[in-house]
Amino acid sequence: MIELGRRMIANTLANTTDQFGELYEADGSIFTDLERFRKEREILFRNTPQVICWSGDVGDPGDVIAREVAGVPVLVTRGEDGELRAFLNACSHRGMVLCEGATNTRRLSCPYHGWNFDLSGNLVGIPNRDRFPGLAAETKGLAPLPVSEQLGLVLVGLRQDVVVDGFLKDLVGEVEWLGWQNYRSGSERHFTKHANWKLMVDLNNEAYHVPSLHRESLLPFLSDHCATNTFGPHSRMCVPFNGIEALGEVPESEWPERLDTIMVTCIFPSTVIVDHMDGGSMHRIAPGLFPGETTLHLIEGRPGPMDDDSRQRCEAVMEMNVTILDGEDYPATEACQRGYEAGASSLVAGPGEPLVGHWHRTWDQAVSAR
Ligand code: FES
Ligand SMILES: [Fe+2]
Repeated sequence: MIELGRRMIANTLANTTDQFGELYEADGSIFTDLERFRKEREILFRNTPQVICWSGDVGDPGDVIAREVAGVPVLVTRGEDGELRAFLNACSHRGMVLCEGATNTRRLSCPYHGWNFDLSGNLVGIPNRDRFPGLAAETKGLAPLPVSEQLGLVLVGLRQDVVVDGFLKDLVGEVEWLGWQNYRSGSERHFTKHANWKLMVDLNNEAYHVPSLHRESLLPFLSDHCATNTFGPHSRMCVPFNGIEALGEVPESEWPERLDTIMVTCIFPSTVIVDHMDGGSMHRIAPGLFPGETTLHLIEGRPGPMDDDSRQRCEAVMEMNVTILDGEDYPATEACQRGYEAGASSLVAGPGEPLVGHWHRTWDQAVSAR
């Protein structure tokens, strides 16, 4: 934090921001081309580990959380044995989604016809069992998925052969102090927007738009003099509040443990976690059904038990975030998408917004590597 603080102070005094990488330019078709979109969905989402939740969301035996990942319903359970498991959230009887949201239970009962599964995915109860002669119930468990807990996050692979272990190795040593392992979700919102998913990620990875798009809302207290790093494919942008340069007059040994900043960590391919002064916001961003559609799952979380007070604080931050995101950011990206669909536009990312170039290069590489 001290090193980041020094950089943000220097950037503020010089009226600049961290700059690296070369100018990146691409054709606007990367946001509209169907073939490119299909490849991205296949390679970056179906075949790449995806962040599901904070570890605290499934911290106790019996915890169950159901979430969608790029349109695939997924279930994560913490068994009585303490084991973390993941499954497709689809009943082996007729495919029904077994449960929604988060709960703590020993059995999952399908809402359609009432088949029962334990938290290890075994089919353990069939109403009127005599109506299914010849059925080998032991072969009708839930379809398991690879799952792993890393740095306080739960990651799942949507295919059996996706290697999830070690996926966040490049972030080791960089995020532990944020305490994600103790976080629990307290408030959630879902959006479907008419813009390509990459545009929705990009808006989190530069503060260059703050003085213009957020002139009234964020600029009065946030600056664009960021300290920015990449860690393998992943990234972090530390955005200071106005006035951080005053710390330059204070001995570093007297700096607060947590400087007035928001830390935007972006995890490959598209999960954004914004750690702020009162908790964390997780943005799970995924392609929708066509290039110009994105699904967004916003989750506001806090460390510790999710009691009423904690939940209310999450709700309050969520309200604030949604006012700005849905009032300013999302309409802008939807307007960008219309520009790209009109066919005349390109994408330009300068070294002064280094993560936009970093992320597009990283996605390009992953997509063309196969
Ligand atoms: S679909 Fe689940 S019990 Fe019938
Ligand atoms: Fe923004």
